[in-house]
Amino acid sequence: MDDVLYINGGNPLQGEITVRGAKNFVSKAMVASLLGEGPSELRNVPRIRDVAVVTGLLELHGVMVTADEQGGVLRLDPSNVESAHVADIDAHAGSSRIPILFCGPLLHRLGEAFIPDLGGCRIGDRPINYHLDILRQFGAVVEKREQGIHIRAPRGLHGTKIELPYPSVGATEQLLLTAVRADGLTELSNAAIEPEIMDLINVLQKMGSIISVDTDRVIRIEGVERLGGYQHTALSDRIEAASWASAALATRGDIYVRGATQPEMTAFLNTFRKVGGEFVVDDDGIRFFHPGGDLRSIVLETDVHPGFMTDWQQPLVVALTQAKGLSIVHETVYENRFGFADALRGMGATIQVYRECLGGHPCRFGQRNFYHSAVVSGPTALSAADIEVPDLRGGFSHLIAALAAKGTSSVRGIGLIDRGYEHFQDKLSALGAEFSHG
Ligand code: EPU
Repeated sequence: MDDVLYINGGNPLQGEITVRGAKNFVSKAMVASLLGEGPSELRNVPRIRDVAVVTGLLELHGVMVTADEQGGVLRLDPSNVESAHVADIDAHAGSSRIPILFCGPLLHRLGEAFIPDLGGCRIGDRPINYHLDILRQFGAVVEKREQGIHIRAPRGLHGTKIELPYPSVGATEQLLLTAVRADGLTELSNAAIEPEIMDLINVLQKMGSIISVDTDRVIRIEGVERLGGYQHTALSDRIEAASWASAALATRGDIYVRGATQPEMTAFLNTFRKVGGEFVVDDDGIRFFHPGGDLRSIVLETDVHPGFMTDWQQPLVVALTQAKGLSIVHETVYENRFGFADALRGMGATIQVYRECLGGHPCRFGQRNFYHSAVVSGPTALSAADIEVPDLRGGFSHLIAALAAKGTSSVRGIGLIDRGYEHFQDKLSALGAEFSHG
C-alpha cells in the first residue's frame, strides 16, 4: 500500500536537502492574487498538496493558474473571477482551512462568498469565530446555512477598528485581505506578526496597498480602490527547515538545509543550541548537526512570533526523548498538540502530559481540561513500532521517531505529510534513510 512506509531506523541522517517557499505563506499569497486586476507571479513555490488544493480552489473561482515544469513559478490570472458552488469548494478543500481566507477578496470582487464548514489538522478545536467577527465588523452579513456559510456585503466593506482576543495568524491574514480594498482606514490591535504575515504584507504592498506595522502589534491599513498583480519570491519554509534540523538531532545526524534562513529561525536556533545541537549558517542555508555526547534537557514554551513556534514543537520533542534529564514543554498556541506523544510512548519514550501550565507563564488553556503541557524524561532508546500519522507536524515527528528507532517501523497515513513537506521521500533517500513501501 502506498500510504505506508516501512522505515528501518537507527542510522544517522546525513547529507543535504533543499527547502523552498513556506507553505503557510504561499497559500495566502495565492489567495491575495484574487484582489489584483492583473496577473501575479509567485516564485519559490513548493510542490505540496496544500498548493494543489489552493490552485484547485482558485480555478473553481475562475482564476487561471499556470505553473512552470518544476512547479516553482506560478502565474495567477484573476481576470475572470466568478462564484463557485459550495459543494465543489468543499470537495476540493478537503481538510484545508484556506477557503475562509477567500471571503474578503470574493466580497470585494463579487459581493458575496459561500464557504463550507472548515477542517484542518486535528490539533484543537480550531474555530473560525475571529474570522467571522472581523468580516461582520467590516459590514458583511454572515449567515450559517445547512450547506455552509454564506457571506455578503450589501453595503460594501468599510474600514474599522478591531482588537483580536489572541494574535491569531489566520485572523490577521483575514483582516489584511479584507482591509486593503475596504473603504477607509482599518486598525488592528494584538495582531500576529509572524514572518509569513510580513511577507504577505510585502505582497500586498507590491499590489498597491498602504499598510504600516507598528512595534506594539498594531497594523494600520488605508484602503485603496484598486490593486494590481505582483511578482514575488516566497520566503523560505522555516517549519520544514526546523523539522529536518530536529531529525538531524534525533538521529545523531548532520543535515545541510539549503534554503533555510536565519532571521526567521532565531528562537529555534537558540533552543537547538541549548539542547546541545550545533549549527552553521552560511549564505545559502544552515547546517544542523549532533556534535556527539549527550543532549541536554530544557524548559520550553511555544508562543506566537517572535517566540518558539508551535509547529516546531512536535519534531523537537522527538529529539528531547534523547536528551539527558527532564524536559518541560508548555504548548500555549493549540490546546491539543500532544496527541502524537502516545505513539512515542509506545516506542519507549517517557512522556507524561498534564492539564496544568508547567514551566512557564499561565496560558489561556490552564485550569481547563486540555492536556497541553508535557514532561519528557530521557534519554530513552526508541524501538520500532507500527504507528499512524495523526496530523501534519505530528506525522513528521513520527517519521523522525521511526528513523531514530532501531528496527523496522511501519508508518501509516503518510499521505498527510505531503500536505506540507515537499518530496519528503526523495529527501529521506538523499539523507541515507532506509525505507520501503513494503
Ligand atoms: N483561534 C480561535 N478563533 C479563530 C481563529 C483562531 O480561537 O477564529 C485560535 C486557535 O484555535 C488557536 C489560536 O487561535 O488556538 C491560534 O490559531 P491561528 O489562527 O494563529 O492559526 P491558523 O491561522 O489557523 C496558522 C498555520 C498553522 C500554525 C498557526 C500558528 C496556516 C495554514 N496554518 O494556523 O500551521 O500552527 O498558524 O502559527 O497558515 C501547520 O502548518 O501544520 C499548521 C497547523
